Amino acid sequence: MAKLGGKVMVTGGAGYIGSHAVLALLDAGYEVVVVDNLVTGFDWAVDPRATLVEANVADDERVRATIRDHGVAAIVHFAGSVVVPESVTDPLKYYRNNTAATRSLIESAVSEGVRHFIFSSTAATYGTPAKVPVQEGDPTVPINPYGMSKLMSEAMLRDVAAAHPMNFAALRYFNVAGADPKGRSGQSTVGATHLIKIAVEAATGKRDSVAIFGTDFDTADGTGVRDYIHVSDLAAAHVAALAVLVARPADSHILNAGYGRGFSVNQVLDAVDRVTNQTIERRYAGRRAGDPAELIADNSAILATLDWRPERDRLDTIVEDALAWERKLGEMGR
Ligand code: UD1
Repeated sequence: MAKLGGKVMVTGGAGYIGSHAVLALLDAGYEVVVVDNLVTGFDWAVDPRATLVEANVADDERVRATIRDHGVAAIVHFAGSVVVPESVTDPLKYYRNNTAATRSLIESAVSEGVRHFIFSSTAATYGTPAKVPVQEGDPTVPINPYGMSKLMSEAMLRDVAAAHPMNFAALRYFNVAGADPKGRSGQSTVGATHLIKIAVEAATGKRDSVAIFGTDFDTADGTGVRDYIHVSDLAAAHVAALAVLVARPADSHILNAGYGRGFSVNQVLDAVDRVTNQTIERRYAGRRAGDPAELIADNSAILATLDWRPERDRLDTIVEDALAWERKLGEMGR
């Protein structure tokens, strides 16, 4: 582990991806302080080895005091709103919770001398790519306020890193799924919209069926194709990114976080059927607004830049881990 010289602050560390990053950082030996307002996150999802500060990331006073009190040397920023259709109907919520809150947090980081910043960005920054696999240098033309709110945050980081002694890594996530293989965390959001979450809810009897949004895309089987990445591999990428930021303080990075291969909706549902040895009912529905046919990462940059290799990239492994967590949620009465 690179020598950081302080703690890591994880915003949104009580949420789905953030809680897995907290586990990965703790397992790698870092000390972690979580800042989360617990609006969509859960306090029980935060590993007890971390300190939890219940606060909004835009609360400058609390955030700055936390940075000082804990000797924070790096920030990993997950907190934000993530529901794409909601961003269309309530764009100002996204520009507040994602863009404006990130601006506040970056300002707190700069004023307190935090040297490293890792940002959870998204493939939604590309909009509908002209070609797949999509590369980091390809045009970023978001088709919804969610993607734009994250792209604006990337721009702020780029400008701030050029002006102040801070470097950053923005990871553009593709479709995150699965759960901690040790069963310590998983996707716990009620009313989630993600395909694999919905499919394992159907497999555990929480839903009757899964709707397939569009069967007439220009893909091999007509259904949408996505690059599903295991949340634990994604969490490990943040740990690897931190090491690189510390080792090379003059360099910043924008990196696709995906595996570079895609699966269709039907292939995902086939995997769920295979893993559970049952058949979930598929309903054919129309396309969902704003869904691109195919979204696949070119991941050569992340592979070249970070000491990181996918470990749980089989689709069946992702589904098995998601399913195990869904069953555990049931046992926990959630
Ligand atoms: C979107 C965003 C992504 C964001 C994520 C979480 C874009 C391009 N991507 O991913 O950045 O992080 O939401 O909010 O905006 N599907 C069904 N039936 C369902 C659910 C989904 O057929 O019940 C299909 C979708 O049409 C799509 C695929 O499954 O083809 C994956 O959908 P989903 O899991 O919702 O993620 P994205 O929309 O790809």
